[in-house]
Amino acid sequence: MEKVYNDNKSRYIIAIDGPAASGKSTTARLIASELQYVYIDTGAMYRACGLRSKQLGISLDNVPKIGEMLDEIKIEIVFHEAGNRFLLNGSDVSEMIREKDISRLASDISQIGIVRERMVDLQRDLGKGGGVVMDGRDIGTVVFPHADCKFFMIADVDTRAQRRVIELKAKGIEADFEEVRKDLIWRDNNDSTRKLAPLRKAEDAIEIDTTGLTIDEQVAEIVINIKNKMYA
Ligand code: DC
Repeated sequence: MEKVYNDNKSRYIIAIDGPAASGKSTTARLIASELQYVYIDTGAMYRACGLRSKQLGISLDNVPKIGEMLDEIKIEIVFHEAGNRFLLNGSDVSEMIREKDISRLASDISQIGIVRERMVDLQRDLGKGGGVVMDGRDIGTVVFPHADCKFFMIADVDTRAQRRVIELKAKGIEADFEEVRKDLIWRDNNDSTRKLAPLRKAEDAIEIDTTGLTIDEQVAEIVINIKNKMYA
């Protein structure tokens, strides 16, 4: 007889953390699609904050101004299986938030306490009903420390840089391997040495090294782990 999820088990919270370009977002999106869950990319939220600070010309040292910015910022996610769209105060910024200077800005703005507080509130609100796959840096450690399944994805830096170059080229953006590699190292360091919610593996997270894996293999490995837990 075919097993079916019971109500509770079909509403898991799945946390996927890991360094930049470790394959989290593609994997998380495909897992969500396989489980018919919602995918939430928390990095995009910090990217939207970084973009807004740039649009308003606010220096990241000016915390009161950042606070005012947070009071007027509206981040919306339009859910699509093929890839969610991000709206910032009503405008679609899905492409703009992927630009290189925004990656650095996102990493820097995510160090500010009030920014993290707001984003974590938003993330908890979006995920509280379960049935979500959420990826980021602190999902398993801070946002949902009691998530049903936690994964920590890693891959060596050359592999990550190579994948990022291919991804950018596919979007028609020229990218230099060395520059991308340097940028990833800078971000890993910035994200893992910060005081608040630094990037680290939760003790109970399963580590997946994707260096030699294809996307399909990464997805399969994670889905097997989730289903084993659901049917245990
Ligand atoms: O996942 P990403 O590369 O799009 O994230 C952009 C930046 O946002 C990342 O360098 C650090 C920050 N971030 C964070 O601090 N916490 C998260 N849960 C997700 C991202």
